[in-house]
Amino acid sequence: MKHSVCIVGGCGHIGLPLGIALSAAGARVTLLDNAESRVRSVAEGRMPFLERGADESLAEVLAAGRLSVTMDPDAVGESESVIVTIGTPVDEFLSPEIRVFDRSMGTILDRMHDGQLLILRSTVFPGVTARLDRRIRERGLRIDVAHCPERIAQGFALEETGSLPQIIGGVTPSATRRASALFALLGARQIEIPPIEAELCKLFCNSYRYINFAIANQFYVIAEKFGADFDRVRMAMTTDYPRMSGFPGAGFAGGPCLLKDTMQLAAFNHNDFVLGQAAMMINEGLPNFLVESAKAQYDLSTATVAILGMAFKGNNDDPRDSLAYKLRKVLTFESRKVLCTDPYIQDPSFVPLDVALDEADVLFLGACHDEYRGLNVRKPVIDVFNFLSRTSAQDVSPRTATAA
Ligand SMILES: NC(=O)c1ccc[n+]([C@@H]2O[C@H](COP(=O)([O-])OP(=O)(O)OC[C@H]3O[C@@H](n4cnc5c(N)ncnc54)[C@H](O)[C@@H]3O)[C@@H](O)[C@H]2O)c1
Repeated sequence: MKHSVCIVGGCGHIGLPLGIALSAAGARVTLLDNAESRVRSVAEGRMPFLERGADESLAEVLAAGRLSVTMDPDAVGESESVIVTIGTPVDEFLSPEIRVFDRSMGTILDRMHDGQLLILRSTVFPGVTARLDRRIRERGLRIDVAHCPERIAQGFALEETGSLPQIIGGVTPSATRRASALFALLGARQIEIPPIEAELCKLFCNSYRYINFAIANQFYVIAEKFGADFDRVRMAMTTDYPRMSGFPGAGFAGGPCLLKDTMQLAAFNHNDFVLGQAAMMINEGLPNFLVESAKAQYDLSTATVAILGMAFKGNNDDPRDSLAYKLRKVLTFESRKVLCTDPYIQDPSFVPLDVALDEADVLFLGACHDEYRGLNVRKPVIDVFNFLSRTSAQDVSPRTATAA
């Protein structure tokens, strides 16, 4: 056995794939989580959420006896290293919810002892790592502290964990050396920088992506307003033109990270982050724009509408901060009836796809699930992603319907 690791928040979207990957690489891993249903599911070998390839890997590491799962916080004192992957949300003022994080860290620190390594893997407000290190020293504890942010794309964690460079932000050279040695198990290269830079690196990555999506969404709105086809413009912009190769399509930029981390960066810079704040207005305003566009073409007040796909992104079962729910809220106010459907999310209020297709007068695409590829839709569709027309042989194209 090379390492023993306790992952706090170990049954979450970040903690669980990381735990599987580290135990597959030879570490002895204990997953500590306070969500009973997730702990039970993992102990029984069932992934609590969709993650490509994880069902098989979870079964393997459980069978090999290298992975265990518990709700007992005393587990943090029993491993050489503790990795924290708990959620770090923003509050109703879009500021980091630091009190919840502090309380959780207090419980963890109460159970740690000299000589351990503590790694913050959660995305944190800049300065949190140094502040935590101060708290630890005030307690008279000698613990190595590092921030090593997670940068995987949800749903692809096991594929990406071994290939994405690991950012290592140790407070001391010893913390950097030990965190590097642990992440070396995953096989990817490591980049060592000070903790504040590791914290900023993660927030810059997510804010950059969020702003990029906002640029595409703003261009989409401009094109629609002037009767131009955004996707045809985008095709012309990007075809054989390398300087535009990374330009994204329009679509919902929701989910648990991008908005939250952009707002963390804004809060860190004393609410002076004009680009990030503008991106929020554009991305969060997109559902409203789509409904207003639909209202200009159809009498929604007498219509049944359906949203296909409620997850925050395609081929995923995560509804957290999904803009499809915001769309539902706006449509509930504007239309006679709203039907929602999603192949991955269990919700008794949702209807099967065929019911949605059958009963709705107007359809909205909420998430680009593969199940909707090639769908033969003979109703008007509002498809900001331009996904259905790209993947369908239908004779009424959604673009035509939208522009009708
Ligand atoms: N989801 C992503 O794609 C992604 C990517 C990169 C970074 N991150 C960051 O990783 C962190 C975790 O995100 P997530 O999506 O995995 O969240 P999550 O809600 O899926 O997982 C967090 C887990 O922590 C558990 N938990 C919370 N408080 C606890 C406590 N005090 N003790 C034990 N367990 C506790 C929860 O039950 C949950 O299972 C966040 O900071 C997020 O910004 C997420």
